[in-house]
Amino acid sequence: MYPSHRPRRLRRNPALRRLVAETSVEPRHLVLPMFVREGITEPAPIASMPGVVQHSRDSLRKAAVEAVEAGVGGLMLFGVPDKHDAVGSGATDPDGILNVALRDLSSEVGSDTVLMADLCLDEFTDHGHCGVLDEDGSVDNDRTLQIYGEMAVVQAESGADVVGPSGMMDGQVGVIRESLDATGFADTSILAYSAKYASAFFGPFREAVDSQLKGDRKTYQQDPANGRESLREADLDLAEGADMVMVKPALSYLDVVRDIAGVADVPVAAYQVSGEYAMVEAAAANGWLDRQRTVLETLTSIRRAGADVVLTYWAVEAARWLRAGHR
Ligand code: PBG
Repeated sequence: MYPSHRPRRLRRNPALRRLVAETSVEPRHLVLPMFVREGITEPAPIASMPGVVQHSRDSLRKAAVEAVEAGVGGLMLFGVPDKHDAVGSGATDPDGILNVALRDLSSEVGSDTVLMADLCLDEFTDHGHCGVLDEDGSVDNDRTLQIYGEMAVVQAESGADVVGPSGMMDGQVGVIRESLDATGFADTSILAYSAKYASAFFGPFREAVDSQLKGDRKTYQQDPANGRESLREADLDLAEGADMVMVKPALSYLDVVRDIAGVADVPVAAYQVSGEYAMVEAAAANGWLDRQRTVLETLTSIRRAGADVVLTYWAVEAARWLRAGHR
């Protein structure tokens, strides 16, 4: 008695496996998130994200050039201001660190890559929330929208090709679209964080941006228990004019990536967040995981689930591995 079906036949050697691989990851699929910090002259390491730094303006420029040379598809920029206030003024100030750095990158690599900017207030507010607060301390959705609208225009003026609203305020995509269109930035794209969960995996990011947050974001980010809700969030964002939709985090939400990729008629992105990075780095540092294999496996899995674009702190390193033929 022999098996009549032998799937192992196509796994016999590397050439066969390469021929029939369904999914691939290419450098162009990867977007590198970068942090730039106001007022420093040397890059500052982020302890919970070994290998990732808060850049100075100078080191940011150099790192951006390296990333572009490695072939990554784009850069997503986050600002770390040295002053915070209740309304996050640094976000809408053309001389705020994020906008200044966008101008730097725009002149340095603007024509060679896709420049994206995080559009959110949490890095700039003294309470660390993604929006402004009411007297009772709750996040005021509609007042926040006004500020997002202004922030989008300043980012577009500063050279962002794509703005990435990540605050999970209702109606944010629509307001940002209107405000960009009204100011001559009809060609600036919106990468909407459509499904963004109130996730423990954002932990190390809080260190990366010197977050002032006490408490949590559960009144605006989604409950990890909810999958269907993500389809609604994505539908709303598409109706409001999102050019791309994103799921975040990635690895614990691959079902959501799959569901959204199944219905969205725009490119789908997934963000492999700080905690996903830290988890693998920590295990690899202990010799418990093979770092390169693990990283490439996670990226492949995120692509397999349906993501066209993957934001990952490993973008540059992974791009180099991929170019060298690893998979
Ligand atoms: C909000 C924002 C966050 C991340 C990206 N944009 C933090 C949050 O929502 O708490 C997290 C990214 C990561 O963890 O790598 N500006």
